[in-house]
Amino acid sequence: MENTYHIPVLLTESVDHLVHNPDGIYLDLTFGGGGHSKYLLSKLSEKGRLFSFDKDRHALENTIDDQRFTLIHHNFRYAKQFVTYSVGFEIDGILADLGISSYQINENDRGFAHRMDGPFDMRMDIDAKKSAADIINDYTEAELLRIFRSYGEIKNAFKLTTSIINTRRNIPIKTVEDFKTAINNCIPKSESARYLSQVFQALRIEVNQELKDLEILLADAPEILKPGGRISVISYHSLEDRLVKNFLQTGNTEGQLVKDFFGNSITPFSSEFKKPIVPGEKEITNNPRSRSAKLRIGIKK
Ligand SMILES: C[S@@+](CC[C@H](N)C(=O)[O-])C[C@H]1O[C@@H](n2cnc3c(N)ncnc32)[C@H](O)[C@@H]1O
Repeated sequence: MENTYHIPVLLTESVDHLVHNPDGIYLDLTFGGGGHSKYLLSKLSEKGRLFSFDKDRHALENTIDDQRFTLIHHNFRYAKQFVTYSVGFEIDGILADLGISSYQINENDRGFAHRMDGPFDMRMDIDAKKSAADIINDYTEAELLRIFRSYGEIKNAFKLTTSIINTRRNIPIKTVEDFKTAINNCIPKSESARYLSQVFQALRIEVNQELKDLEILLADAPEILKPGGRISVISYHSLEDRLVKNFLQTGNTEGQLVKDFFGNSITPFSSEFKKPIVPGEKEITNNPRSRSAKLRIGIKK
Protein backbone atom coordinates (compact mmCIF):
# COMPACT_ATOMS: atom_id res chain seq x y z
CA MET A 1 0.00 0.00 0.00
CA GLU A 2 2.66 2.50 1.04
CA ASN A 3 4.47 2.40 -2.33
CA THR A 4 1.48 3.64 -4.31
CA TYR A 5 0.26 6.01 -1.61
CA HIS A 6 3.65 7.41 -0.64
CA ILE A 7 7.28 6.27 -0.61
CA PRO A 8 8.71 7.16 2.82
CA VAL A 9 11.71 9.52 2.68
CA LEU A 10 14.88 9.12 4.79
CA LEU A 11 13.13 6.20 6.46
CA THR A 12 15.95 4.48 8.34
CA GLU A 13 17.81 7.72 9.09
CA SER A 14 14.80 9.44 10.67
CA VAL A 15 13.62 6.43 12.70
CA ASP A 16 16.89 4.75 13.74
CA HIS A 17 18.17 7.96 15.35
CA LEU A 18 14.80 8.54 17.01
CA VAL A 19 14.12 5.22 18.72
CA HIS A 20 16.56 4.94 21.63
CA ASN A 21 14.13 3.16 24.01
CA PRO A 22 12.20 0.24 22.43
CA ASP A 23 9.78 0.22 25.41
CA GLY A 24 9.00 3.92 24.94
CA ILE A 25 6.09 6.02 23.72
CA TYR A 26 6.44 7.71 20.33
CA LEU A 27 4.41 10.05 18.13
CA ASP A 28 4.44 10.00 14.32
CA LEU A 29 2.74 13.31 13.60
CA THR A 30 2.40 12.84 9.83
CA PHE A 31 1.09 9.30 9.23
CA GLY A 32 0.27 9.55 5.48
CA GLY A 33 0.73 6.09 3.97
CA GLY A 34 2.13 4.82 7.27
CA GLY A 35 5.60 3.93 5.96
CA HIS A 36 7.45 5.62 8.83
CA SER A 37 4.95 4.34 11.39
CA LYS A 38 5.34 0.72 10.26
CA TYR A 39 9.11 0.90 10.41
CA LEU A 40 8.97 2.65 13.79
CA LEU A 41 6.74 -0.14 15.16
CA SER A 42 9.32 -2.70 14.00
CA LYS A 43 11.84 -1.01 16.31
CA LEU A 44 9.58 -1.17 19.40
CA SER A 45 9.20 -3.98 21.94
CA GLU A 46 5.85 -5.41 23.06
CA LYS A 47 5.72 -2.62 25.67
CA GLY A 48 6.36 0.22 23.19
CA ARG A 49 3.52 2.43 21.98
CA LEU A 50 3.03 4.54 18.86
CA PHE A 51 0.40 7.24 18.40
CA SER A 52 0.17 8.62 14.87
CA PHE A 53 -1.63 11.72 13.63
CA ASP A 54 -2.95 12.83 10.26
CA LYS A 55 -5.40 15.60 9.51
CA ASP A 56 -6.35 14.09 6.13
CA ARG A 57 -9.27 11.68 6.53
CA HIS A 58 -8.08 9.65 3.53
CA ALA A 59 -4.88 8.70 5.38
CA LEU A 60 -6.93 6.82 7.98
CA GLU A 61 -7.58 4.08 5.40
CA ASN A 62 -3.89 3.09 5.73
CA THR A 63 -4.21 2.29 9.43
CA ILE A 64 -2.02 -0.48 10.87
CA ASP A 65 -3.47 -3.47 12.68
CA ASP A 66 -1.20 -3.62 15.72
CA GLN A 67 -2.23 -3.42 19.37
CA ARG A 68 0.69 -1.07 20.12
CA PHE A 69 -0.63 1.44 17.58
CA THR A 70 -3.33 4.16 17.61
CA LEU A 71 -4.17 6.44 14.67
CA ILE A 72 -5.63 9.85 15.44
CA HIS A 73 -7.45 12.06 12.93
CA HIS A 74 -6.23 15.40 14.17
CA ASN A 75 -3.94 18.32 13.47
CA PHE A 76 -0.55 17.76 15.08
CA ARG A 77 -0.67 21.27 16.53
CA TYR A 78 -2.71 19.60 19.30
CA ALA A 79 -0.02 17.01 20.11
CA LYS A 80 0.75 18.62 23.48
CA GLN A 81 -2.90 18.50 24.56
CA PHE A 82 -3.05 14.86 23.46
CA VAL A 83 0.07 13.91 25.44
CA THR A 84 -1.07 15.86 28.51
CA TYR A 85 -4.62 14.48 28.67
CA SER A 86 -4.42 11.06 27.00
CA VAL A 87 -0.88 9.83 27.72
CA GLY A 88 -0.34 11.59 31.05
CA PHE A 89 3.48 11.62 31.11
CA GLU A 90 6.45 12.71 29.01
CA ILE A 91 7.21 10.72 25.88
CA ASP A 92 10.34 9.33 24.22
CA GLY A 93 10.19 10.64 20.68
CA ILE A 94 8.44 12.68 18.03
CA LEU A 95 8.67 12.18 14.27
CA ALA A 96 7.37 14.71 11.73
CA ASP A 97 7.68 14.24 7.97
CA LEU A 98 6.26 17.56 6.86
CA GLY A 99 4.27 18.58 3.80
CA ILE A 100 2.02 16.52 1.57
CA SER A 101 2.02 12.90 0.48
CA SER A 102 2.34 11.63 -3.10
CA TYR A 103 -1.26 10.48 -2.83
CA GLN A 104 -2.41 14.03 -2.09
CA ILE A 105 -0.37 15.45 -5.00
CA ASN A 106 -1.60 12.80 -7.44
CA GLU A 107 -5.32 13.19 -6.71
CA ASN A 108 -6.63 15.68 -9.27
CA ASP A 109 -9.62 16.69 -7.16
CA ARG A 110 -7.29 18.07 -4.44
CA GLY A 111 -5.74 20.90 -6.49
CA PHE A 112 -2.19 20.53 -5.14
CA ALA A 113 -0.48 20.01 -8.52
CA HIS A 114 -0.27 22.71 -11.17
CA ARG A 115 -0.04 20.06 -13.92
CA MET A 116 -3.51 18.65 -13.20
CA ASP A 117 -6.81 20.45 -13.56
CA GLY A 118 -9.46 20.13 -10.86
CA PRO A 119 -11.07 22.20 -8.11
CA PHE A 120 -8.58 24.73 -6.70
CA ASP A 121 -8.73 23.23 -3.23
CA MET A 122 -5.35 22.35 -1.59
CA ARG A 123 -6.79 21.46 1.81
CA MET A 124 -4.98 18.57 3.51
CA ASP A 125 -7.85 18.43 5.98
CA ILE A 126 -10.86 18.17 3.70
CA ASP A 127 -13.08 19.40 6.55
CA ALA A 128 -11.11 22.67 6.89
CA LYS A 129 -12.96 25.88 6.07
CA LYS A 130 -10.74 27.68 3.56
CA SER A 131 -9.63 26.33 0.17
CA ALA A 132 -7.09 27.90 -2.22
CA ALA A 133 -10.02 29.21 -4.30
CA ASP A 134 -11.49 30.93 -1.21
CA ILE A 135 -8.17 32.65 -0.56
CA ILE A 136 -7.71 33.71 -4.18
CA ASN A 137 -11.26 35.08 -4.44
CA ASP A 138 -11.64 36.64 -0.97
CA TYR A 139 -8.28 37.84 0.38
CA THR A 140 -7.34 41.50 0.05
CA GLU A 141 -4.55 42.62 -2.24
CA ALA A 142 -2.24 43.16 0.75
CA GLU A 143 -2.92 39.67 2.10
CA LEU A 144 -2.22 38.05 -1.27
CA LEU A 145 1.01 40.04 -1.62
CA ARG A 146 2.13 38.87 1.82
CA ILE A 147 1.53 35.21 0.91
CA PHE A 148 3.35 35.34 -2.43
CA ARG A 149 6.28 37.35 -1.05
CA SER A 150 6.78 35.55 2.25
CA TYR A 151 5.86 31.96 1.37
CA GLY A 152 6.83 31.81 -2.31
CA GLU A 153 9.58 34.45 -2.58
CA ILE A 154 7.87 35.41 -5.88
CA LYS A 155 9.76 38.24 -7.57
CA ASN A 156 6.80 39.67 -9.52
CA ALA A 157 4.33 39.24 -6.63
CA PHE A 158 2.74 42.64 -7.30
CA LYS A 159 2.02 41.86 -10.96
CA LEU A 160 0.73 38.42 -9.95
CA THR A 161 -1.64 39.86 -7.34
CA THR A 162 -2.90 42.53 -9.75
CA SER A 163 -3.71 39.88 -12.40
CA ILE A 164 -5.66 37.85 -9.82
CA ILE A 165 -7.61 40.90 -8.62
CA ASN A 166 -8.44 41.96 -12.21
CA THR A 167 -9.69 38.49 -13.16
CA ARG A 168 -11.77 37.87 -10.05
CA ARG A 169 -13.57 41.20 -10.56
CA ASN A 170 -15.20 39.62 -13.61
CA ILE A 171 -15.35 35.88 -12.86
CA PRO A 172 -14.59 33.78 -9.77
CA ILE A 173 -11.49 31.56 -9.95
CA LYS A 174 -12.62 28.03 -9.16
CA THR A 175 -10.26 25.54 -10.79
CA VAL A 176 -6.52 25.07 -11.25
CA GLU A 177 -6.95 25.95 -14.96
CA ASP A 178 -8.95 29.11 -14.08
CA PHE A 179 -6.08 30.16 -11.83
CA LYS A 180 -3.35 29.41 -14.39
CA THR A 181 -5.28 31.36 -17.03
CA ALA A 182 -5.67 34.32 -14.64
CA ILE A 183 -1.92 34.51 -14.00
CA ASN A 184 -0.72 33.45 -17.46
CA ASN A 185 0.85 36.86 -18.24
CA CYS A 186 3.03 36.62 -15.08
CA ILE A 187 4.59 33.20 -15.71
CA PRO A 188 8.17 33.47 -17.06
CA LYS A 189 8.27 31.28 -20.20
CA SER A 190 11.80 29.99 -19.51
CA GLU A 191 10.99 28.65 -16.03
CA SER A 192 7.23 28.20 -15.93
CA ALA A 193 7.26 24.94 -13.91
CA ARG A 194 9.52 26.42 -11.21
CA TYR A 195 7.45 29.59 -11.02
CA LEU A 196 4.17 27.70 -10.74
CA SER A 197 5.62 25.40 -8.06
CA GLN A 198 6.60 28.44 -5.98
CA VAL A 199 3.18 30.06 -6.40
CA PHE A 200 1.39 26.81 -5.54
CA GLN A 201 3.66 26.24 -2.55
CA ALA A 202 2.89 29.71 -1.20
CA LEU A 203 -0.86 29.10 -1.43
CA ARG A 204 -0.59 25.60 0.05
CA ILE A 205 1.30 26.97 3.08
CA GLU A 206 -1.47 29.54 3.65
CA VAL A 207 -4.40 27.14 3.09
CA ASN A 208 -2.98 24.62 5.55
CA GLN A 209 -1.32 27.08 7.95
CA GLU A 210 1.76 24.88 7.66
CA LEU A 211 4.29 27.22 9.27
CA LYS A 212 1.94 28.03 12.16
CA ASP A 213 1.41 24.30 12.87
CA LEU A 214 5.17 23.73 12.81
CA GLU A 215 5.88 26.69 15.12
CA ILE A 216 3.33 25.42 17.67
CA LEU A 217 4.76 21.92 17.50
CA LEU A 218 8.35 23.12 18.00
CA ALA A 219 7.39 25.35 20.92
CA ASP A 220 5.54 22.46 22.62
CA ALA A 221 8.06 19.70 21.89
CA PRO A 222 10.41 20.42 24.85
CA GLU A 223 7.42 20.24 27.22
CA ILE A 224 6.22 16.82 26.09
CA LEU A 225 9.57 15.06 25.63
CA LYS A 226 11.47 13.33 28.46
CA PRO A 227 15.06 14.41 29.05
CA GLY A 228 16.97 12.36 26.46
CA GLY A 229 13.81 12.17 24.31
CA ARG A 230 14.28 12.93 20.61
CA ILE A 231 12.63 14.84 17.83
CA SER A 232 13.21 13.97 14.19
CA VAL A 233 11.87 16.41 11.57
CA ILE A 234 12.01 16.04 7.78
CA SER A 235 11.30 19.26 5.89
CA TYR A 236 11.06 19.97 2.17
CA HIS A 237 11.63 23.70 1.74
CA SER A 238 13.80 26.39 3.25
CA LEU A 239 11.02 28.16 5.19
CA GLU A 240 10.29 25.00 7.20
CA ASP A 241 13.92 23.99 7.52
CA ARG A 242 14.89 27.44 8.84
CA LEU A 243 12.30 27.17 11.64
CA VAL A 244 13.48 23.68 12.60
CA LYS A 245 17.18 24.58 12.44
CA ASN A 246 16.72 27.76 14.49
CA PHE A 247 14.59 26.04 17.10
CA LEU A 248 16.94 23.11 17.59
CA GLN A 249 19.97 25.43 17.85
CA THR A 250 18.50 28.17 20.03
CA GLY A 251 15.08 27.17 21.41
CA ASN A 252 13.23 29.79 19.36
CA THR A 253 12.28 30.01 15.70
CA GLU A 254 14.01 33.40 15.26
CA GLY A 255 17.34 31.73 16.03
CA GLN A 256 18.29 34.14 18.83
CA LEU A 257 20.69 32.54 21.26
CA VAL A 258 19.73 33.19 24.92
CA LYS A 259 22.54 33.02 27.51
CA ASP A 260 22.39 32.52 31.28
CA PHE A 261 24.18 34.65 33.90
CA PHE A 262 27.43 32.74 33.31
CA GLY A 263 27.29 33.17 29.52
CA ASN A 264 26.22 29.59 28.78
CA SER A 265 23.60 29.30 26.07
CA ILE A 266 20.20 28.08 27.23
CA THR A 267 18.75 25.73 24.63
CA PRO A 268 16.28 22.87 25.15
CA PHE A 269 17.95 20.58 22.59
CA SER A 270 21.36 19.24 21.71
CA SER A 271 22.18 17.40 18.49
CA GLU A 272 24.60 14.73 17.36
CA PHE A 273 24.61 16.28 13.90
CA LYS A 274 25.87 19.72 12.97
CA LYS A 275 24.41 19.49 9.44
CA PRO A 276 21.06 18.18 8.22
CA ILE A 277 20.91 14.61 6.94
CA VAL A 278 19.92 14.52 3.25
CA PRO A 279 19.03 11.62 0.91
CA GLY A 280 21.82 9.91 -1.00
CA GLU A 281 21.95 9.61 -4.79
CA LYS A 282 20.33 6.16 -4.72
CA GLU A 283 17.29 7.39 -2.78
CA ILE A 284 16.91 10.43 -5.05
CA THR A 285 17.04 8.21 -8.15
CA ASN A 286 14.46 5.79 -6.72
CA ASN A 287 12.26 8.56 -5.38
CA PRO A 288 12.86 11.98 -7.00
CA ARG A 289 10.41 13.59 -4.56
CA SER A 290 12.99 13.02 -1.81
CA ARG A 291 15.52 15.39 -3.43
CA SER A 292 14.68 18.47 -1.35
CA ALA A 293 14.37 16.61 1.99
CA LYS A 294 16.39 17.68 5.03
CA LEU A 295 16.31 15.76 8.29
CA ARG A 296 17.21 17.40 11.60
CA ILE A 297 17.32 15.60 14.92
CA GLY A 298 17.30 17.10 18.40
CA ILE A 299 17.84 15.48 21.80
CA LYS A 300 16.00 17.04 24.75
CA LYS A 301 18.49 18.16 27.37
C1 LIG B 1 4.90 13.75 3.67
S1 LIG B 1 3.40 13.01 4.18
C2 LIG B 1 3.92 11.81 5.35
C3 LIG B 1 4.21 10.49 4.76
C4 LIG B 1 4.49 9.40 5.75
N1 LIG B 1 5.66 9.69 6.54
C5 LIG B 1 4.62 8.07 5.09
O1 LIG B 1 5.61 7.37 5.34
O2 LIG B 1 3.75 7.70 4.31
C6 LIG B 1 2.69 14.22 5.25
C7 LIG B 1 1.35 13.80 5.85
O3 LIG B 1 1.16 14.63 6.99
C8 LIG B 1 -0.14 15.13 7.02
N2 LIG B 1 -0.07 16.42 7.71
C9 LIG B 1 0.57 17.53 7.30
N3 LIG B 1 0.43 18.52 8.20
C10 LIG B 1 -0.30 18.01 9.22
C11 LIG B 1 -0.77 18.55 10.46
N4 LIG B 1 -0.52 19.81 10.82
N5 LIG B 1 -1.46 17.74 11.27
C12 LIG B 1 -1.72 16.45 10.93
N6 LIG B 1 -1.33 15.90 9.75
C13 LIG B 1 -0.61 16.66 8.91
C14 LIG B 1 -0.57 15.22 5.58
O4 LIG B 1 -1.97 15.12 5.47
C15 LIG B 1 0.15 14.02 4.95
O5 LIG B 1 -0.65 12.87 4.94
